[in-house]
Amino acid sequence: MKKYFIETYGCQMNVSLSDQLDEKMKQKGFKPSASPEKADFIIVNACSVREHAENRVFQRLLYLHSLKKKKDIKIVATSCFAQNQKENIHSADYILGTYQISSIPDILSNGHRHFLKVEFDEYEFLKPVRNRENPFQSLIDITVGCNNFCSYCIVPYLRGPQISRPSKQIIEEVKRLGDEGVIEIFLLGQNVNSYGKDSSDISFAGLLYKIHEIDNIKRIKFLTSHPKDFDKELIQAVMTLPKLSRWLHLPLQSGSDRVLQLMNRKYSMAHYYDIVDRLRSYKKDFAQSTDILVGFPGETEKDYQETLTAINNIGFDEAFTFKYSPRKGTRSYALTDSVPEKEKRARLENLVRVQRKTEKEKIIRHIGQGCTVLVEGQSKKEKNDAFGRDDCNRVVIIKGQKLKKGEFYPVRITGVKGLTLLGERQ
Ligand code: SAH
Ligand code: SF4
Ligand code: F3S
Repeated sequence: MKKYFIETYGCQMNVSLSDQLDEKMKQKGFKPSASPEKADFIIVNACSVREHAENRVFQRLLYLHSLKKKKDIKIVATSCFAQNQKENIHSADYILGTYQISSIPDILSNGHRHFLKVEFDEYEFLKPVRNRENPFQSLIDITVGCNNFCSYCIVPYLRGPQISRPSKQIIEEVKRLGDEGVIEIFLLGQNVNSYGKDSSDISFAGLLYKIHEIDNIKRIKFLTSHPKDFDKELIQAVMTLPKLSRWLHLPLQSGSDRVLQLMNRKYSMAHYYDIVDRLRSYKKDFAQSTDILVGFPGETEKDYQETLTAINNIGFDEAFTFKYSPRKGTRSYALTDSVPEKEKRARLENLVRVQRKTEKEKIIRHIGQGCTVLVEGQSKKEKNDAFGRDDCNRVVIIKGQKLKKGEFYPVRITGVKGLTLLGERQ
């Protein structure tokens, strides 16, 4: 029996694909390997969103290639990275694009080599599976691809146009997973709230209402939303459906209307503030996270200051911050990468500092409050502490308790450690 090892880089969609691929490899008769060194096939499921991410994967491939001296290992490069770098990958035996991921088990059984299908024709969604470590959780791709073409972003060129998985199929899969013991569902897509717009299917909010009706499912989360498609119906669903996590990841990218327009984001700051105001009108605790990109071509000091103002005004619970990385083939690639590297770094470092301060201020406000935590496991460092997430997706460490994974516990927040909440079981 041939053994395989999967390495994953990039977004949650790649994580989800790896989980599903793993299951399909097993069904095809392959055996999982405990380490890449012991495997016959090493599958590198990787990302191309920024140059830095790609460079790390190239480095990793060189190491994996060196293992060939000791053992007859076959290396498989796949997903966005393979799609983007097909001509430049010399240390892989198989280069398989994003539309070939579902066929990897067959291709490896048949022994084709260097096969890369670049067309975006029929997309086969893989079967969603339970999380290996936490079988009460599951990731489900509800869309693949993206039609937005933000000017800096390579994703639409690598994952192809948006395709929504039929809602009937999603509901069936969620019901099946619920019967298998899944209670937490994570819906994934590059732009989940444009779900159904490429077909004549129900809207994203409509899908949430349907999933909400499934008894066994107790918690629902989704990633990533786009501000331009975030409507009132969806805000109401998030704030009123009890099983929906009161957490919204809504990438802002920039606080300057001028830059947002250059980025082709198709919303203004006024629209973004409107969403935040509507969410806050419910006066319920909810968490908001975002992505910010600094150093976009032509971003002036004034534009950058507007981003700082926006993040100060909104007060995000978490922000993923990036330096602009020019990606060949995107629209902004033709623009001069005008912000010098040193300046980009300075803007990023300052942004991180400002954001940390907000996070610290926001997190201590929870001390003394109660919440419900879905336990995900025991802390690796402190075996007697359990950890999990509350209804707003915040990580909570429950001190001095050995608790059952996949169970809900009432917890009182007693303190913070760094930026993590500490609590006691009630
Ligand atoms: N579909 C999601 C996320 C896509 S990629 C969305 O619409 O927001 C995740 C994040 O990577 C983006 O939100 C953006 O902040 C960042 N990103 C994308 N392309 C980038 C680039 N060329 N340089 C730096 N960061 C980039
Ligand atoms: Fe990229 Fe924009 Fe699509 Fe997100 S919405 S994947 S940033 S093009
Ligand atoms: Fe990366 Fe592709 Fe996801 S480029 S961010 S793995 S969609």
